[in-house]
Amino acid sequence: MSPGVVHDYLRELGRGWSGQGVAMEVGCWLGATSVPLLEGLVEAGYNKPFWAFDRWRANASEVMKAKAQGQKISFHQDLQNIYLRNVHSVYDNIIAIKGRIPNTFRSYRPEPIELCMFDAPKREPVFGVAVRKLVPHFIPGVTVFGLLDYYFYERRKNMGFKDWEEFLSPVKFVNDYSDCFTLLREFPESGSCAFFKYEKQISWK
Ligand SMILES: C[S@@+](CC[C@H](N)C(=O)[O-])C[C@H]1O[C@@H](n2cnc3c(N)ncnc32)[C@H](O)[C@@H]1O
Repeated sequence: MSPGVVHDYLRELGRGWSGQGVAMEVGCWLGATSVPLLEGLVEAGYNKPFWAFDRWRANASEVMKAKAQGQKISFHQDLQNIYLRNVHSVYDNIIAIKGRIPNTFRSYRPEPIELCMFDAPKREPVFGVAVRKLVPHFIPGVTVFGLLDYYFYERRKNMGFKDWEEFLSPVKFVNDYSDCFTLLREFPESGSCAFFKYEKQISWK
């Protein structure tokens, strides 16, 4: 669960919506990060669909994570209704696409993306495939790309997991295309997120 400072920043990003594109979250779970983003968007007069992608099917670690937050969910429970209930308290026009990312991006009706929060797989091949499908809709000089588990690899490394390097995909992506992104804010110690502005059109390597 990301901390209050990250939620405050998401709200601020929402408030900064300029009307040039849609907002989306990829990897939404129960809506803890979608809600503050939507609160800011509503303040800014957001009037487009909010796109939400997730499989919304509880796995064992999500059951434990929810329990630690005082919420009871069961293994394989469909979580989409909980997500929708949470976000609908803020904004109605949510297009919630349930299923496996990146296959579910097929349902995306292409529109420029102004705000893209990404909190889904951090490993290849899913991360790279997903990003290659999203970035062509980004608006140079406008789009904010939030990588909500950018520093997750560090936590994994410190916990002694041997596979920590597999979680470096978001970092490698930003480094590979560092001429196209500038860092806006990062929260390495609280929440592990980093937010980037997409500055110029990407030429895929
Ligand atoms: C860390 S949680 C998101 C947390 C949420 N952003 C928040 O802060 O409350 C990651 C989410 O990504 C989803 N997810 C991970 N891999 C996925 C995939 N390949 N397809 C669809 N959803 C996926 C999981 O179901 C989970 O809900």
